Amino acid sequence: MPISLIILAAGQGTRMNSDRPKVLHAVAGAPLLVHAMAAGAALAPERTVVVAGHGVEAVRAAALAQDETATVVVQAEQLGTAHAVAQALPALAGFAGDAIVLYGDTPFIRPETLEAMVAARARHAVVVLGFEAANPGRYGRLIARGEALDRIVEFKDASPEERAVTLCNSGVICADAELLGDLVAAVGNANAAGEYYLTDIVELARARGLSAGVVLCPEAETLGVNTRAELAAAEAAFQARARAEALETGVTLTAPDTVFFGWDTVIGRDAVVGPHVVFGPGVTVESGAEIRAFCHLEGCHISRGATVGPFARLRPGAELAEDVHVGNFVEIKNAILDEGVKVGHLTYLGDAHVGEQTNIGAGTITCNYDGVFKHRTEIGARAFIGSDTMLVAPVRVGDGAMTATGSVITRDVPAAALAVARAPQVVKEGFAAKFFARLRALKAQQKGNG
Ligand code: UD1
Ligand code: CA
Repeated sequence: MPISLIILAAGQGTRMNSDRPKVLHAVAGAPLLVHAMAAGAALAPERTVVVAGHGVEAVRAAALAQDETATVVVQAEQLGTAHAVAQALPALAGFAGDAIVLYGDTPFIRPETLEAMVAARARHAVVVLGFEAANPGRYGRLIARGEALDRIVEFKDASPEERAVTLCNSGVICADAELLGDLVAAVGNANAAGEYYLTDIVELARARGLSAGVVLCPEAETLGVNTRAELAAAEAAFQARARAEALETGVTLTAPDTVFFGWDTVIGRDAVVGPHVVFGPGVTVESGAEIRAFCHLEGCHISRGATVGPFARLRPGAELAEDVHVGNFVEIKNAILDEGVKVGHLTYLGDAHVGEQTNIGAGTITCNYDGVFKHRTEIGARAFIGSDTMLVAPVRVGDGAMTATGSVITRDVPAAALAVARAPQVVKEGFAAKFFARLRALKAQQKGNG
């Protein structure tokens, strides 16, 4: 059965107290919206429609960055969740299949849960994702008998008996897209909030003799973000789960509570991660690689057997082949380091390619930026870059070539050559002794005068 997604993301998120639309606040380095889109994407949806309202342009950009085929529709006024879904339906014209409604501020719904909902559609025309709430608060209540759902009552409209129900509405709903359109069109706003409630479609479906059902998930999955405190709690929940998963899949974390993962971090078995390591988005670490303490990594790939840190920074486009060693106070950006390259200390490599087994001396810098353009540095295999070499890009150093310590390399160095680009050393015998004697005498004289 083909699936399409409708992701509601129009709300302002007043309680975030922010200029940024709520769904663009990040957990584990990705906007809440991206988490929701990614969970839905696991079902290989035919279409994805994001309903934006506040901060439309920023929401559109984030949605398209995650999925360039997504459609972003605008809900100018937030008149309720059913009204939001109604704005999405024209974008599903001609689509035959099920639509799943997700919230852009609810990042932790698992793909498996959505799959269970899709499976339950064999038994029910409308499937609602529910959970047993430890503290049901102001959630909508599910009035159900076992799996069969009678109706959903919003907190504001609920009687004391209904408020005592702890089975709550997550907001995620799955139904045939065409039926969803019909039902949403019939929703009115005669309720305590004066809003068009999506939740009303359950009773509307049942009035047509159709069946509605509940699929349950753990409360943790339905965690929504409305405040900064909830955002921090969501981050903590994400990290706790990511650490546990890493440990379970055979990653050694010396001090798990100090390691922060990105939303899409991939780490192979037997990788070792030391204390205080932060993974931004887009990091893959192969089996057996070692990330030592206090590293910051984003958008990079670390191959088998490589060692990184302590105190290293890998920025987007850093590609470390097998057995590469990157040591302390080294920053690497948009650079490919082939097998066995060693960059031990205090170095910046940006917009570069370094051939296999090349040694980069301490304090080397690729001077890649002229103030306007970025330029590339190409270093061959088995080269030896002397300590404190400035490589003024664009520049090439050939295979097996050397640069002398302290050189400023502005021209290409042929393979197997040595480039020396520094002032020759001058030695003045006895100079220092005489120099200091003169200064000391001067100081003594000043004291005498004073
Ligand atoms: C909704 C449910 C409630 C459920 C709860 C779970 C309804 C009527 N109620 O209540 O049963 O327990 O979620 O969190 O559906 N949105 C729009 N446009 C709108 C209104 C909302 O895009 O016009 C978006 C919001 O940005 C948000 C989501 O839909 O992402 C939910 O809206 P919200 O107002 O938070 O619904 P609740 O009152 O929490
Ligand atoms: Ca809410």
